[in-house]
Parts: sequence; C-alpha cells; structure tokens
Amino acid sequence: MTSKSAPLAAAARASGPLTGDVTVPGDKSLSHRALIFGALSVGQTTIDGLLEGEDVIATADALRAMGARIQKLDSGQWQVDGVGVGGLHEPSQVIDLGNSGTSARLLSGVLASHRMTTFVTGDASLVKRPMARVIEPLSRMGAEFVARSDNRLPMAVIGSDELLPIRYEVPVASAQVKSAVLLAALNTAGKTTVIERTATRDHTENMLRAFGAELKIEPDPDGGDAITLTGQPELTGRPVEVPGDISSAAFPIVAALIRPGSDILIRRVGLNPRRAGLIDTLIEMGGSIERLNAGMRAGEPVADLRVRASDLTAVTVPPDRAASMIDEYPVLAMAAACAVGRTEMPGIGELRVKESDRLARVAEGLADCGVRVEAGPDWLAVEGDGGQPEGGATVATALDHRIAMSFLVLGMAAKQPVTIDDAGPIATSFPGFFDLMNGLIAGEPALRTRQPQP
Ligand code: S3P
Repeated sequence: MTSKSAPLAAAARASGPLTGDVTVPGDKSLSHRALIFGALSVGQTTIDGLLEGEDVIATADALRAMGARIQKLDSGQWQVDGVGVGGLHEPSQVIDLGNSGTSARLLSGVLASHRMTTFVTGDASLVKRPMARVIEPLSRMGAEFVARSDNRLPMAVIGSDELLPIRYEVPVASAQVKSAVLLAALNTAGKTTVIERTATRDHTENMLRAFGAELKIEPDPDGGDAITLTGQPELTGRPVEVPGDISSAAFPIVAALIRPGSDILIRRVGLNPRRAGLIDTLIEMGGSIERLNAGMRAGEPVADLRVRASDLTAVTVPPDRAASMIDEYPVLAMAAACAVGRTEMPGIGELRVKESDRLARVAEGLADCGVRVEAGPDWLAVEGDGGQPEGGATVATALDHRIAMSFLVLGMAAKQPVTIDDAGPIATSFPGFFDLMNGLIAGEPALRTRQPQP
C-alpha cells in the first residue's frame, strides 16, 4: 500500500447550480470501528454501508492478517466472523496501513493487548504523524514499542495479554487516543478509566455498548467525562448500519451553498452532535441547511440534509467547537473565502498533524488562489467579499484527501479553474467523489482528472 502510483492531477472550473439527490459513502470512523469490533466479537457481524475507501480497507486487511474472517458480500455489504476479545494472532508480515491515522492509532490499542509482536508502517504521510500520543498511555499499561526517532512509524508493537488497567487523562482532544486506550482495555482485566476534558466523537463508546461491553460514563469532578470500561467482556457480533459520512457530505454541502441557484438533498447523513459542528457553523454563516427525515443508524442520529445556495457572512468559530468539526476546517475555509468578511478559526493546532499540515496547506493554497488569508500556530483567518475568488493556482495536496477535495470545491466557485497536483488520495475516504459532484451539475462536468477517475 505504500507504493504510490503516479500523481493524478485534477482541476475544477466554475460550475452551474448543483441540483439533485445523492447519498455519500459510509462514515469512515464508524466503518473502521465496525470492522474492529466485529473482529473482536464472538459470532458474526454484518455491516451495511461500509465505506470502501482505502483507509477502511487497510483496517480490514490488517484484521484479516491477524485471523479475522472478513468478506465483502456486495457493494457496502460486509460480513465479519470474529475471533473474540484477545483472540487475534500475530501477523506474519508487516502491517501496512497506508494513509490511515485512524487505523494506526486504533489498531495500536488492539495490538498492544495481544501477546504478539507486530510491525506497523504506512505511506509517506502516515510515517510523519505523531504516534507518541498512543505509545505513551499504552506503555503505561505495559505494552512495549520500538519506534523510529521522534516516535514515528514504522514501529514494532510488543503486546501483552497481561496489561494493567490505568486511569488516563487524554492530553489532546483526540478520539483516536481515547479509542486506542479503550481498545487496549478491552483485553485487560479490571477497570480502565479514560478522562477526556473536551468531548470528542463517541463512536467507540457507542459501539462498545452495542456489542455488549460494560461501560460507564460519568462527569469528572474536574470537568469533562470519565469513561470506565470493564475489561475482558464477551462481545457479540451484530448488524451495523453505517450512516453517510458527514465529513464527506461536507464537500457537496459547501459546493451547493456557494453556487448560486443550487438546491440539493443528501440522504442519511450521520449527525452525531460530536461530529456536526460544521453544520452549526454554516447555519450561523447564513447557510440554508435543513434536516429532514430524522432517524437512527448504528445507534447514531441521521437525517437527510437539504442544502440551498446562500449568501454567507463571516463568523468566529468558537474554539470549543473544534473537536466536533476537526476534519471540516479545510472545506469551511473554502466557504469562508466566498463569504463576506473575516472568518476566524481559533484553537485548531491539531490541524498541523493531520494527513498533512492542513493549516499550512489551506493558507498557502488560498493565498495562491488570490484569497486573503492569515495563519498562526493554531489559528486561521480567511477574508472574502462575497464575490468569486480568483483561483487559477495549482495546489499541492500533500497526500491529503481533504485538501484535494476542498480546493476542487473552491474551483467550482472561482473565476479561474483550480488545479490539484494529485487527486489519488481522495480514494482513501471518498470513492466516487468525481462522479457524485459532477452528477449534481447539469451539462459539462466541472471536475476533471487527466486519467480515469479515482
Ligand atoms: C478520528 C478522529 C479524529 C479525526 C480522524 C478520525 C476517529 O482524529 O481527525 O479523521 O475516527 O477517531 P484525532 O483523534 O486525531 O482528533
């Protein structure tokens, strides 16, 4: 998976209105977790709507290499025959997780709590990302790690089935770190408590309960939540219906808001309140977004979203909302470039350690497209006048799917086409992105790649 094919340049030009009705691929966070909990259960888990992007396939391949039986039955329909908590075996080869930080962090917790030694690597982006945040708590529990300098991948995880339960306060707002500790705690006798001061996505907690684990979530006296898991439960396989990924829906949502005359419907989007900060922000900016047909999937709220073109006005995004929209700042910055006024986005230092340094990539790309933008160590400010941004630049995507898709959305509203140097990474999270976006536009496609689309 680390052998990268030749870059695939792509460009977007100003489009007509977006209209129609679409379904975005399944939620990436939930898809990883459905596979992992399925693999750690006794019996069968059936998954409907699994995201078939490269990141999730990396998790599936890793779990297969450790003994879980995972099969694709049909498009989005998968079946997992689990091995039970603690039942995985040592993989005979290096586990290559490609571009996927979620696979690397979550599986670290799983590997740490099995008596085996596993070698883990990833692509040129993943081997730059910090792993100390999981190595630190998992080492406290008794696992050992041999990582490259500065705690980067590749690394060896020397796990144990006799880890000790800990009480751990997560030092950064990170659902991946919280989940790594909870996954290690699954095969650890006793009660492990994870304290998070800032609420992050709670898919792991929801799914742990659904698969039969005993989990207690209480307010911590010093603020936030204390999440306590009783180790070594028997998890039982179950059906999981994955909702559409709000982080993918974000691209057609912003495109529809900024293209005059647009009116689209996106079906069955996951709207877990700890993920839906972008929707609140865009509505505050004047965006017309309606929630229709509310329901539940995989124990999480879902709704259809009707989005209509709107005149947007700048806002300051409250920093305490950052965790609930952490992956959506790049595309919010594109909306801000089309809004009137200066949109300020404080408290987003975590963007510097995503698939790329997203703060830097967004600031540079927007400046190259003629947009007024300023960036600090942990903030971004974007200024627009409500007119079309200039565009006309080629933006480096730096192996980052969300940078690639965000700048293509900007191109749909810009005076001059916007080019990205590599559309390949889009396949990590949003297979079918080009067809879905072009399918919303009447006439000539607005988005084009030089070769067949990813
Ligand atoms: C994720 C958590 C977030 C997010 C990532 C998916 C998850 O990462 O950016 O895309 O599925 O738990 P952090 O935990 O690093 O904030």
